[in-house]
Amino acid sequence: MDTNTHTEVQRYYGKELESSADLKTTACCTADEVPGYAKALLANIHDEVLQRYYGCGLVLPEALNGLRVLDLGCGAGRDVYLLSALVGAEGSVVGVDMTPEQLAVAQRHQEFHTKAFGYDQSNVDFLEANIEKLEATDLEDNSFDLIVSNCVINLAVDKGAVLRSAYRLLKPGGEMYFSDIYADRRIPEHLVSDPVLYGECLAGALYWNDFEQIAKESGFHDPRLLKREPVEVTDPDLRLKLGALRFNSATFRLFRLAGLEAGRENYGQQAVYRGTIAEHPEQFRLDEQYQFQRGQATAICGNTYRLLRHTRFMAYFDLLGDDSVHLGEFTDTKPAELEPGQADKPLAGGCC
Ligand SMILES: C[S@@+](CC[C@H](N)C(=O)[O-])C[C@H]1O[C@@H](n2cnc3c(N)ncnc32)[C@H](O)[C@@H]1O
Repeated sequence: MDTNTHTEVQRYYGKELESSADLKTTACCTADEVPGYAKALLANIHDEVLQRYYGCGLVLPEALNGLRVLDLGCGAGRDVYLLSALVGAEGSVVGVDMTPEQLAVAQRHQEFHTKAFGYDQSNVDFLEANIEKLEATDLEDNSFDLIVSNCVINLAVDKGAVLRSAYRLLKPGGEMYFSDIYADRRIPEHLVSDPVLYGECLAGALYWNDFEQIAKESGFHDPRLLKREPVEVTDPDLRLKLGALRFNSATFRLFRLAGLEAGRENYGQQAVYRGTIAEHPEQFRLDEQYQFQRGQATAICGNTYRLLRHTRFMAYFDLLGDDSVHLGEFTDTKPAELEPGQADKPLAGGCC
């Protein structure tokens, strides 16, 4: 990593900012709507941890019980502790950050959260490290079910290194679920070297298409955009500097999956959500394109079939069809008409 950028980011998060109120833009700390079950858990998180939350999205994937999770750039640990509650005593969460002051806040309240969530022992670990050099840590390949990150990768100089490590550390079928800031065009060099714009998570932001390319080169062949919203830059001086540049905060899901195709292909396959993820009894949103209603057959492309078949989501879906007959390009996500009785005969899907 570029040493100056590295030092400046550490200074910004370790010394300059004391709480989210010190931020100059809404890039970090965008207000995603928090569902009721997570609100109840957030109420158990220590105030000091909450005050030093600088995320830009809600890192709250579904079906977390028992998972081993890694948080890249965990900061003061808000998401680590939220996920610690959700993975349960059988699961665990490792938070990695390079800024000692941020980690000190997280670690100071470890025992507090162990008690708050009713655990006999903490299911959380923190590690001081550079997420662009994770090969220098003793984190093992193929060892995490889920990797999350919240408003961090934009701050990394070598974003490809972060994604390549994430791919390597995930188990096959594992997911990287992360929120970050993206730009509508490549950021000019003179803005990248502005320490405030960089520290505020704007000047290091990737242009959308460059992100997709880097993700694919890192092994994540079919990135799924879950949601995005515009970031407001209200400070008039910063707005002037940025000119026509516009930013979005967005949440992507990347899956470590073999055999994905370059495009969306139609094999006439369908998926029926069973409604069995406790927090999502009626519907499950996979990404911007796919929202599954409980008990309703939805037409899916070949890659989505593979995704649901080979990830933890397999336990919550009945999958219909196979890939023996190719029907051309996939264009439709409207629920397809089923043959009578077909919904009762899943061809693949969760165990039990
Ligand atoms: C915007 S804050 C977000 C922190 C946390 N995810 C949250 O939501 O509160 C960015 C964090 O990323 C960390 N960070 C930035 N670049 C990093 C790197 N290359 N390696 C490790 N941590 C990094 C910073 O130290 C800081 O704590």
